[in-house]
Parts: sequence; structure tokens; C-alpha cells
Amino acid sequence: MNDNIRLKILTEKYINNDVLKWYFDKEVTRFSDNQHRKFNLNMQKQYVKNCQLSNSRFLHGIFFDNTYIGNILISNISNYHKTAEISYFIGDKRYWGKGIMTTVIKMVVHIAKDSLKLNKLYAGVASENYASIKALEKNNFIKEGKRIQHLYYNSKYYDQIDYGLLLNYF
Ligand SMILES: CC(C)(COP(=O)(O)OP(=O)(O)OC[C@H]1O[C@@H](n2cnc3c(N)ncnc32)[C@H](O)[C@@H]1OP(=O)(O)O)[C@@H](O)C(=O)NCCC(=O)NCCS
Repeated sequence: MNDNIRLKILTEKYINNDVLKWYFDKEVTRFSDNQHRKFNLNMQKQYVKNCQLSNSRFLHGIFFDNTYIGNILISNISNYHKTAEISYFIGDKRYWGKGIMTTVIKMVVHIAKDSLKLNKLYAGVASENYASIKALEKNNFIKEGKRIQHLYYNSKYYDQIDYGLLLNYF
């Protein structure tokens, strides 16, 4: 399974109408700020280009058997604090529940530690996003706190669970 997963810095050639559908899929965006954003093909290509030019965020496409299935973003990179945030999704739901994101997070932990030389990664997760919580915890992310009613998704408030991983301790 792991051998089939690749991460590549995303380029706009992968953005097409099928991919755009991910951003309008209510299950995919259930616990994501993307449900509050507007998307079209040009905007999404421009976003990908902007990420390529940025020094403070790295947008990786997730590829399974060379098929593009989702994204993982390393953002808010602080060169002072040596920290960065991760956020991620698998847009093609046929690939959910196969351990892919657990493996992808593991790969990103290695990028953050070995290439970016960071000290810490963090992620904020809606309290009911059990699959995401499990993928983080399986990668040894520690629950650092809870922000009460910090997120508003689909007409409901959710607590945000803040997770962190110290990279120099594993
Ligand atoms: C959350 C998400 C990234 C998980 O990716 P995934 O590749 O399906 O996750 P994994 O297969 O690695 O599963 C992680 C674990 O969660 C478990 N899990 C999945 N759904 C679950 C649920 N509803 N309740 C409890 N556990 C669940 C899996 O069984 C697995 O645990 P296991 O390995 O012990 O069996 C994916 O569902 C997704 O893209 N969701 C929409 C976007 C999103 O929510 N992004 C995260 C925002 S913080």
C-alpha cells in the first residue's frame, strides 16, 4: 500500500473539472473551511501557482498509483519558531478508509523534520472528525488543547481539537 502513495508539489496541470468537484462535495468539505469558500477552475489554478511561488507554504498533491486523489498543505511555516501547520483531504472518496492519510501524514512528518528542519507540526481538527483525529494520533500527534465552539460547519458549532507533534523527539 505505502509503495503506491507519492507526494508531489502540486502543479496546475492537475486541476480540472473532475478535481473541482471535490470542493463542492458536502462529505469532503464537511469539516473544512472550503465549504465557506468559492471555487472555480481559474481560481484554483491560480491558488496552486501562488503556492508554488510561496516560501511559507508547500502544497503537495497526493497520488495513489499515479492518480491524483487529494492534497496535503504545509502552511504557516515560521522560520523563527520552526513550526508549521498541516491540513489535508482526500477528494476522491473511493480512497477513504484505506490508511492512505495515515501514511501521507507520516511522509509529511519526515519532510518537515529532514528537509524543512522544523521543530514542530500542528493541526486543528473538528471534534467530530474521527478519521482525521485517528490519522493524527496514529502518527503520535498529541492533543494539546480544545478551543470551544471554534469552528462553524453546516450550521453547527464544533470544538476544535489542537494537535501537535514535536519532531525532535521521535
Ligand atoms: C479525514 C481523512 C483525511 C482521512 O483519510 P483516510 O485516508 O480515509 O484515513 P485513514 O484510512 O488513514 O484512517 C484513519 C483511521 O480513522 C478511522 N476512521 C475512519 N472513519 C472513521 C469514523 N467515522 N470514526 C472512527 N474512526 C474512523 C480508520 O478506521 C483509520 O483507523 P484504523 O487504521 O485504526 O482503521 C479523509 O476522510 C478526508 O479527506 N476527509 C475529508 C476532509 C477532511 O476532513 N480533512 C481533514 C480536516 S482536519
